[in-house]
Amino acid sequence: MPKVKEITSLLQKYLSPYVKQVIFLAVILISYNALQVLFPQILRIYVEAVSAPSLDVKVLLYSSIIYIGMSVIFRALYILLQKISQELAWATTNNLRIDMTRHCINLDMTFHNRKKTGDMIERIDGDASTLSEFFSTFIHYFIGSFFLVLGILVAVFIEGWVYGLLFLAFIMIALTAFYFVRKIASPLWKKVRESTTALFGSIEESISGLEDIRGNGAEPFIMKRFHEVSQINFKDKNKAMIYSRIYYIINVLMGAMINLGILMISYYFAGYLTTSSGTLYMLLTYGTNLLRPLRLILWQLEQLQNSMANIDRVNEYFSLESKIVDKGTKAFPVEEVNLSFENVNFGYSEDAFVLKGVSFSIPHGRTLGLIGRTGSGKTTLARLLFRLYDPNEGAIKINGIDIRNFKLKELRANVSYITQEVELFKASIKDNVTFFNKNYSEKKVEAIVNEVGLGSWLEQLPKGLETEIYSEDCGLSAGEEQLLALSRAFLKNPKIVILDEASSRLDPATEQQIDLALEKLLLGRTGIIIAHRLSTLHKVDDILILSKGEILEYGPREELLRNPNSHFSRLLQKGAEEILI
Ligand SMILES: Nc1ncnc2c1ncn2[C@@H]1O[C@H](COP(=O)(O)OP(=O)(O)OP(=O)(O)O)[C@@H](O)[C@H]1O
Ligand SMILES: [Mg+2]
Repeated sequence: MPKVKEITSLLQKYLSPYVKQVIFLAVILISYNALQVLFPQILRIYVEAVSAPSLDVKVLLYSSIIYIGMSVIFRALYILLQKISQELAWATTNNLRIDMTRHCINLDMTFHNRKKTGDMIERIDGDASTLSEFFSTFIHYFIGSFFLVLGILVAVFIEGWVYGLLFLAFIMIALTAFYFVRKIASPLWKKVRESTTALFGSIEESISGLEDIRGNGAEPFIMKRFHEVSQINFKDKNKAMIYSRIYYIINVLMGAMINLGILMISYYFAGYLTTSSGTLYMLLTYGTNLLRPLRLILWQLEQLQNSMANIDRVNEYFSLESKIVDKGTKAFPVEEVNLSFENVNFGYSEDAFVLKGVSFSIPHGRTLGLIGRTGSGKTTLARLLFRLYDPNEGAIKINGIDIRNFKLKELRANVSYITQEVELFKASIKDNVTFFNKNYSEKKVEAIVNEVGLGSWLEQLPKGLETEIYSEDCGLSAGEEQLLALSRAFLKNPKIVILDEASSRLDPATEQQIDLALEKLLLGRTGIIIAHRLSTLHKVDDILILSKGEILEYGPREELLRNPNSHFSRLLQKGAEEILI
């Protein structure tokens, strides 16, 4: 359970920009509930006027007009209350959602590897929506109901202390009973939220692995697992709902009790309390009116429970810190960039290193060709340079400065990392190249797309750069995807280029295009190419062969070629088109 301090600090953070609206809401809320306390008073005047021996038409008329007038104002206040509380809730939770998304993007890869996308959606959307509902209804119903109950109590005490005590006792008994039922129900709701998250996670996992699932005929197993997860969720929900209903039953019973109490008191205390028929009518109305705010208070307590779990999880989420510390202050070199890895050890988990004692250097303008069997650690090495992870031991340096000393943003702005599997957005080609940055002109993007050799491809698209990717008009081959990724790198104009070549086979024409584009991109830049094709290796200056995370061979390409016993020479002699060492 979050502490009161945590809840108030969250509320303060997200409500403080809206102080004016909050004050306005409070004024309306108080007026709205004051009217609810006044209604039965007007009714009493009316009932007393009707039951008086001589009918006073003036009193009847005035009380009716006041009642109707108050009803109209009451309705108008209700609409206003709904509108303002909902607007406030949406504004605050949208800000919360934005903060959560930003936080999520900035967390390191260890977090992203561990968490399923479904979990994250449930957190950012599900938790934030529940909180939004909580914000809007809690102020409206819980605080409002609290004031209403207080108002009714004051009005009843004014009428007679015996009635006041009866109402007070009734509220105490009711709340105590509800408290105990709530104590049982609250862990049940937490369980419901957890099993719902598990259900979302399982759906997301199945959808993203659709091809693999179909390809391996795993549908029955996936469906079985889905049934299991949804069954747990259904059972949890059912149980929680049953316990929630007990709240309401108790509330209704309490309502009957108070009416009985009022009637009994007015009967037995008839001598002391000169209760008129109007007053009795008013008290019974107050008794009945007490049911609704108590029900709302209960409902809100239920909501509060859910929201507590939400707030807990939101706070837990915000307390996660990226392992990638961004405290560097050194300026990134503007001219020459000499890169070196010094005794780098790295493992995704503490106990097993994936890279072991890796040391090499790439002087400015040179390109290193990185090869090795699948799983040897090539992609991992690239990720370290981009600071998706930091080495456990050793250091990666640029011009002798550990890359942890540069601002992360600056480092990443100067390094282009073209990943093995290109990720494209369902958006226009232009947005895919510019990453939605509107500062780039159409002309510039077009020139770059031409430069990577996609000019003729672009020409035959009906809407040119505005064509949506993956739409009917625009399908892309793996090669074209990589070319598009290369154009992203051109636009960025980086100092260092890392290309993790696609392991899928490309047709010779596209290969040639990629080679040409790459040659242009690497000109005057420091580069690492993780090669899966021999032809790519003809362009690099140095060769590094990785084997199980260790350097098997490293040296200038020409030198390795001259030595017929080098692994590289033997590899070329074998003439394998794809590299298998
Ligand atoms: N996100 C990750 N979490 C945990 N282990 C990982 C992760 N990514 C890779 N590994 C492991 O690290 C090792 C090196 O993987 P890496 O992806 O660097 O290999 P690679 O040389 O790029 O292979 P490929 O040629 O298939 O692309 C492998 O044993 C792999 O299972
Ligand atoms: Mg790889």
